[in-house]
Amino acid sequence: MPIIAPSLLSSNFLRLEDDCNMLNQSQADWFHLDIMDGRFVPNISFGLPVVQHIRKATSKVLDVHLMIVEPEKYATNFKDAGADILTVHIETCNHLHRNIQQIKNLGMKVGVALNPHTSIVLLDDILEDIDLVCLMSVNPGFGGQMFIENTLHKISKLKNRILQRNLHTLIEIDGGVTFENASTILKEGADVLVAGNTVFKSSNPIAAIEKLKSVSIK
Ligand code: DX5
Ligand code: ZN
Repeated sequence: MPIIAPSLLSSNFLRLEDDCNMLNQSQADWFHLDIMDGRFVPNISFGLPVVQHIRKATSKVLDVHLMIVEPEKYATNFKDAGADILTVHIETCNHLHRNIQQIKNLGMKVGVALNPHTSIVLLDDILEDIDLVCLMSVNPGFGGQMFIENTLHKISKLKNRILQRNLHTLIEIDGGVTFENASTILKEGADVLVAGNTVFKSSNPIAAIEKLKSVSIK
């Protein structure tokens, strides 16, 4: 079964506690937290104090997706705020190996995110060092965008490389995941589905999560 990671970017920030409680009662595995700085991406979301509060509201895994420049400056802060997984964008890291080691040394799992235009070939020399690859299936910055179909062949190529090397690296798909495309995404080899609008714009988010969790690979 896939790991389901609802993105709280699409939640109701005025009722964040209610949404956290809802996720706690649901089959959601992880909380996906999108941190945007208005520099790497053309949007600003929320920051450390919000992550700290969410940490107090759940014991589920906090999957923190940093869409910020100079992520190395904030890795310690996100650890202290309660992040379990810290994902940095390859496009923001001149010293990716160093950044990965920093996150591991802080005791977090480490993910690397790739924009839709970025080739998975760039991961060849660090695949052994990371726990998760986040393949962006939209251009990062906003929830509710359309899935970019080219992502599908990136998933299968990456999956082959991971299997060939006997690794357990998880493939996370982030952006535009729907009930309609989830099955194809999983068939290509994804392990984790991030879902913002599909969960939070549903009239019954708990049922939406259950539905994603039980999507079968046709
Ligand atoms: C986009 C974020 C995504 C987003 C997903 O930059 O990284 O996590 O919240 O939202 P949906 O599922 O609505 O595309
Ligand atoms: Zn995200």
